[in-house]
Amino acid sequence: MKKNILVTGGAGFIGSHLVRLLVNKYPNYHIVNMDKLTYAGNLENLKDIESKENYSFVKCDICDFDKVKNVFIDYKIDNVIHLAAESHVDRSIKDPFSFAQTNVMGTLSLLQAAKLYWANNFKDKLFYHVSTDEVYGSLGKEGFFLETTAYDPHSPYSASKASSDHFVRSFQDTYQFPTVISNCSNNYGSYQFPEKLIPLFINNICQNKPLPVYGKGENVRDWLFVDDHARAIDVIFHKGKLGETYNIGGFNEWKNIDLIKVIIKTVDKYLGREIGASEKLITYVTDRAGHDLRYAIDSTKLKDELGWEPSLQFEEGIDKTVKWYLDNETWLKNVTSGDYAKYYEAMYK
Ligand code: NAD
Ligand code: TYD
Repeated sequence: MKKNILVTGGAGFIGSHLVRLLVNKYPNYHIVNMDKLTYAGNLENLKDIESKENYSFVKCDICDFDKVKNVFIDYKIDNVIHLAAESHVDRSIKDPFSFAQTNVMGTLSLLQAAKLYWANNFKDKLFYHVSTDEVYGSLGKEGFFLETTAYDPHSPYSASKASSDHFVRSFQDTYQFPTVISNCSNNYGSYQFPEKLIPLFINNICQNKPLPVYGKGENVRDWLFVDDHARAIDVIFHKGKLGETYNIGGFNEWKNIDLIKVIIKTVDKYLGREIGASEKLITYVTDRAGHDLRYAIDSTKLKDELGWEPSLQFEEGIDKTVKWYLDNETWLKNVTSGDYAKYYEAMYK
């Protein structure tokens, strides 16, 4: 069946992996990538597929309601996979307004534009909202986030994502508008903007710069390879039940400091340094305000009901990721020049 799918935030980290997967796997789908191209969006991420016939790019802010409505009309959009967001917790602590604007108002603008264009005829339509496990708050040493766990966000980022999730559910409940939501754990892999832990540390190790570990490095995150997330979105998009939520995770928890040591070993190996030599760069810094202690996702529902499982072992994923950043120095240089240099200076001075 033909589909015209609007993917928002397709020039970002996860979005670019998803767009690539959909464009290559489904020649009969037209994938329309709508992205504002903020500091985190980069069309270089999609160079290999940009001239494919079933792909289009539209530069558009999801908050620009009039423009968004026109994109639905121009491309006859019948499905949406919504990833566009401000996504970095540290930035949300410094500038919460832009998170409320893009993540809450932007999501509402898309929901309303879809509802108007679909004119309450929702047959074969879907609005898939991509969210995060951070909406569930922080765990102690035990337990996992389930789809039924009550929301308890702590950062302006997670509060804005929680709010967007609520708006999506409100459309489902109020208008029988067709939605599905997934909440995923921390992703890693190629094309991730180097403000996030893994690419930031790979880059700093290469440049012999300090590795800023927040607090004691004891916070725990559950890490999933980005292509496994893209595959999960593909499965949920095609087989997920309307109105449902699916948790996506790797059953792969790492204390930050242990993860950092794995990254160091891998980078040292590829740079021909003595293994572990770069541990001297580890620098403990003031903890992040409101820093959630532990995230851990239970993705049993997704496995049992839709048959998805992570495919890649973590050690292999980290190896591939480190190698990609080392092989793509130009990409790294391009995205870390300009405004990012100013952000880095202000954040870690
Ligand atoms: P990212 O920051 O790498 O990319 C975000 C993209 O959205 C960029 O291309 C940016 O230009 C675009 N964008 C931002 N504001 C926009 C606006 N107003 N209008 C149009 N486009 C805009 O983010 P990511 O890590 O790829 O995350 C994508 C989605 O997945 C987000 O919704 C995020 O909350 C969610 N998520 C991320 C992770 C993770 O570990 N990165 C985990 C779970 C869920
Ligand atoms: P991050 O990649 O920002 O993802 P999130 O906050 O969404 O989980 O951070 C992952 C973990 O690494 C988190 O516990 C914060 C920590 N961290 C540092 O210790 N130092 C840093 O410079 C950064 C960016 C993160």
